[in-house]
Amino acid sequence: MSHQPQRILVTGGAGFIGSNFVHFWRQSYPGSRVLVLDALTYAGNRASLRAAESDPDFRFVHGDIRDYDLVSSLLRQERIDTLIHFAAESHVDRSIHGPDEFLDTNIIGTHVLLKAAKAVWLDDGPCPHRFHHVSTDEVYGTLTPDAPPFSEGHRYAPNSPYAASKAASDHLVRAYHETYGLEVTTSNCSNNYGPYQFPEKLIPLVIGNILDGRPLPIYGDGLQIRDWLYVDDHNRGIDLVLRQGRPGETYNIGGNNEWTNIEIVRLICRLVDEKFAGSDFGGKAMRKRFPRAPQCSGAKAESLITHVKDRLGHDRRYAVNAGRISAEVGYAPLESFETGIRKTLDWYLANEEWWRSVMDGSYRKWVELNYA
Ligand code: NAD
Ligand code: DAU
Repeated sequence: MSHQPQRILVTGGAGFIGSNFVHFWRQSYPGSRVLVLDALTYAGNRASLRAAESDPDFRFVHGDIRDYDLVSSLLRQERIDTLIHFAAESHVDRSIHGPDEFLDTNIIGTHVLLKAAKAVWLDDGPCPHRFHHVSTDEVYGTLTPDAPPFSEGHRYAPNSPYAASKAASDHLVRAYHETYGLEVTTSNCSNNYGPYQFPEKLIPLVIGNILDGRPLPIYGDGLQIRDWLYVDDHNRGIDLVLRQGRPGETYNIGGNNEWTNIEIVRLICRLVDEKFAGSDFGGKAMRKRFPRAPQCSGAKAESLITHVKDRLGHDRRYAVNAGRISAEVGYAPLESFETGIRKTLDWYLANEEWWRSVMDGSYRKWVELNYA
């Protein structure tokens, strides 16, 4: 059963994957209505949506997914037919230090959206609709080194408060389909990387720390494995599922691209070293822009690698079997890791203002003043 999204609501559209989704969508479907609902937590930045702001088909609403009246009135007033739900507390380390917000946003917030969608699309309707829930491979827990990658039938065994809150939200989404007939789909994706990722996550953190000459913290032995996917490949997968996925179904999305953390960090170190080694103007400019980088005093980026205490309950390995999405809707990632990681490094080098400002909040204030 295919679905044709006309007017979409993107929750969490000022975050990493959500903002990339908005840019992907506007390029793919110019002229379609895009509404973003985002609470602008520390992880949400209106600057990430700057390219969309002047488009009359785009609207940003500063608000909370837990606000039932706001969500239901937006669905009605804007005649939204498709909701793509990215909004979440997303950082595992923060969930370990303070789980409450994760439960509030990820579980209660998702439930408020489902309740509002049911009221507007089923109780007032019925009308054609789709609710897509963006979830994570972390709901499946951890894999041993030789275990086959997670398939959709893998039992749920979340290990962090973050993963447990996402697992709970997945179950609520499923329940609204089974009980009320809400047309939902869910995708469970592996680790994303790319532009606009908040520099608390491994890849942008390592890039920024090298450039500023700060230690590169490796949790434990650094041999934990993640399956990395370029963010646009995730968003293309969501688009395919929205249009051609089966209501009530879940789809894993992954890159078939497993790396240990230490390998990734070493790779980024080498790529940044190359930028500084350029005998051309590039190398000189790098030294001028980033005087605290180790390369400026003749050292290599790897000299910053520092093993630190391991994350509590740290999952050892994630890997995703994306066979279902590939067989049913023809999904395949387009970006190779080699090109994706270079593109990402180039983006962070070209957008230093973005990552510095999202870290200290000043740019957000500037944007709020400018877009008030
Ligand atoms: P992010 O932390 O970068 O962005 C989250 C966004 O949600 C921010 O803009 C934030 O302001 C907003 N938000 C938070 N609480 C809100 C609330 N109560 N109301 C409205 N908006 C709120 O996250 P991300 O990395 O872009 O992840 C997006 C989604 O994708 C999440 O649901 C996450 O679980 C899932 N996911 C992420 C990855 C990954 O590698 N980053 C992989 C798989 C799945
Ligand atoms: O698998 C999908 C998940 O990927 C998403 O659901 C989460 O929202 C997203 O944050 C990500 O979770 P991870 O915990 O895997 O990502 P993070 O970038 O925080 O860490 C990647 C790995 O690197 C992990 O094994 C922990 C390790 N790490 C991370 C940081 C920030 C370090 O060794 N040092 C660090 O400083």
